[in-house]
Amino acid sequence: MTDTRAVRRRLLDWYDRHARVLPWRVGPAEHAAGVRQDPYKVWLSEVMLQQTTTAHAAPYFAAFTRRWPMVGALAKEEDGVVMAAWAGLGYYARARNLLACARAVADEHGGVFPNTENGLRALPGVGGYTAAAVAAIAFDRPANVVDGNVERVMSRLYAVEALLPGAKPQLARLAGGLVTEDRPGNWAQALMDLGATVCTPRSPRCLVCPLIDDCAAYASGAPQTYPRKAAKAERPHRQGQVFVQRRGGEVGLVRRPPKGLLGGMLALPTTDWTPAPRPVPPGWREVGAVEHVFTHFSLTLHVLVKADPTDADLIWTPVEDARTALPTVFRKALDRALG
Ligand code: ADE
Repeated sequence: MTDTRAVRRRLLDWYDRHARVLPWRVGPAEHAAGVRQDPYKVWLSEVMLQQTTTAHAAPYFAAFTRRWPMVGALAKEEDGVVMAAWAGLGYYARARNLLACARAVADEHGGVFPNTENGLRALPGVGGYTAAAVAAIAFDRPANVVDGNVERVMSRLYAVEALLPGAKPQLARLAGGLVTEDRPGNWAQALMDLGATVCTPRSPRCLVCPLIDDCAAYASGAPQTYPRKAAKAERPHRQGQVFVQRRGGEVGLVRRPPKGLLGGMLALPTTDWTPAPRPVPPGWREVGAVEHVFTHFSLTLHVLVKADPTDADLIWTPVEDARTALPTVFRKALDRALG
């Protein structure tokens, strides 16, 4: 039987000593002194962190909060400007949801985030994870915050044999069994830190883990084999061509249709992305290819250039501006074309 009170005490003590210093975080000592994080910053960081690492998110978080210090400022911004600032973070539908949510908070809630999990969940684009994380971290609500890290920690602590993704509800129930009214925000962040720095996917650092004596997977002798996972279908592969045209210091871009992959983002003109390669069209020269992995497929993008650009319908953009506004896959292609 797991002693949940002992587990909580050990992990919270560990967090008090080892909490990571993160730009969006109020650390445990400040929290104990009554300092609370701005819900806007908690929400923004959680949306960013759903798709990338803390290291990659940090400069984006700094840039967003410098440029839009409050939710009302973000709400008033033009879509294209926010999409460009999001470029490089991926999952561009999230940037659109981010704006929809900011505008709902500004227009319907007087610029103040709801302070309950249900109230947050009702905002556009806010899913169960984000609502729980903001409720716990910004408002100290006893919400059950479950991401992939927390699932991994639970699967090990309790040596859960059921396979992911089917085991998700069970892992969430186990995580919920450890949440109390006491320091719920610190609890959520302690689990995240443990998952990110100690209970890591491949080589967990069990010898420094505060839960070593509680962990059923450690006792089994093979903690790294948890969580158990169903065999994954292989990612399909696709190919495409992008067309890079330069005129002076500018490059020709297009805006992608609002719906679908990379929707609403600036892009290089491209063919459809299909399983089969294509011949190089007359007048173009292939200068190389770049690889990119999306959630549901991987892509080889062949980079084509033309000596004298003729296409008048393009959005002619200074190369450096294009590099910052383009999603990563197109930035890589542009860099390849620039040599
Ligand atoms: N990952 C997701 N949310 C996080 C947070 N608030 N702190 C650290 N890592 C996180």
